[in-house]
Amino acid sequence: MTRSSFDSRWRDPEQPERGGRDRFHVAINMDGNGRWALLRGQSREAGHVAGATAVRRTVESAPALGITTLTLYAFSSDNWRRPRGEVDNLMLLFQKHLDSECARLTDSGVRFSVIGRRDRIPDSLRRSIAHVEEHTSEGTSLHLRVAIDYSARDALLAAAGRVAKGIPPTREAFERAMYEAIHAPSGTRDVDLLIRTGGEQRLSDFLLWESAYAELFFTDVLWPDFTEADLASAVQAFAARDRRYGGIRTAAPMTAGASEQQPCDASSSASTTPLRPTRVRLG
Ligand code: FPP
Repeated sequence: MTRSSFDSRWRDPEQPERGGRDRFHVAINMDGNGRWALLRGQSREAGHVAGATAVRRTVESAPALGITTLTLYAFSSDNWRRPRGEVDNLMLLFQKHLDSECARLTDSGVRFSVIGRRDRIPDSLRRSIAHVEEHTSEGTSLHLRVAIDYSARDALLAAAGRVAKGIPPTREAFERAMYEAIHAPSGTRDVDLLIRTGGEQRLSDFLLWESAYAELFFTDVLWPDFTEADLASAVQAFAARDRRYGGIRTAAPMTAGASEQQPCDASSSASTTPLRPTRVRLG
């Protein structure tokens, strides 16, 4: 699999302007910490600690696999329903991890941000997040987004509320409003590949809008066991998918006069015919 044959799959005809450096967005629902610990007779907290090590491994291996944005689901808004002790430990773990990883993230050129609500997490965690976001803001090797107190439905509701108050009901304005609600930097490309570990096959209120055309990849590997090889396997599976964005694959020759780049593999004789003919490029 060459890098160039890969690149062609990263283009969504609906988002032609979102190019630049952000070319491949992978999101991961990191599931299985608790079961990993249970299998070893350890506490759930020990599973989360091992999960934090897997986070570091994954962040370190992402750029070499062509990943430019990585979004990790660390704590859903529904996770507040867990026992108080587990929630407190998770908040502490996030903070410890952030504080200890700040220099490493900065040195490796990772831009860090958190998506989700910020009004319910501990003050000290909120301060650590702001600190690391500021210190890593110039990073260009990878945009690492961690979802904490995140709910896609709540984000959608917040944007809908803004529409009710008068912002135009366009996709662009709606998305801007949604991103504001979750403190997400605007202009992040949609999710290309959504991975869930731990054997479950559901979305769990994660990036529902942004994953409209995401390729889904489920693995039984429990998150603490997730390695660079597992990430590479998921990326490999993604590269073999045929992304059509609602269009069709056709071997028809190009039409005269078409000039825009087609979102299909340039090395392939087949071309994708999206619904909007102005985007069709032949050849
Ligand atoms: C889901 O597994 C995992 C979580 C709710 C917490 C995710 C946290 C980490 C990966 C640790 C550190 C993260 C960062 C960003 C430093 P589960 O507990 O629901 O597992 P189970 O389904 O086996 O019970």
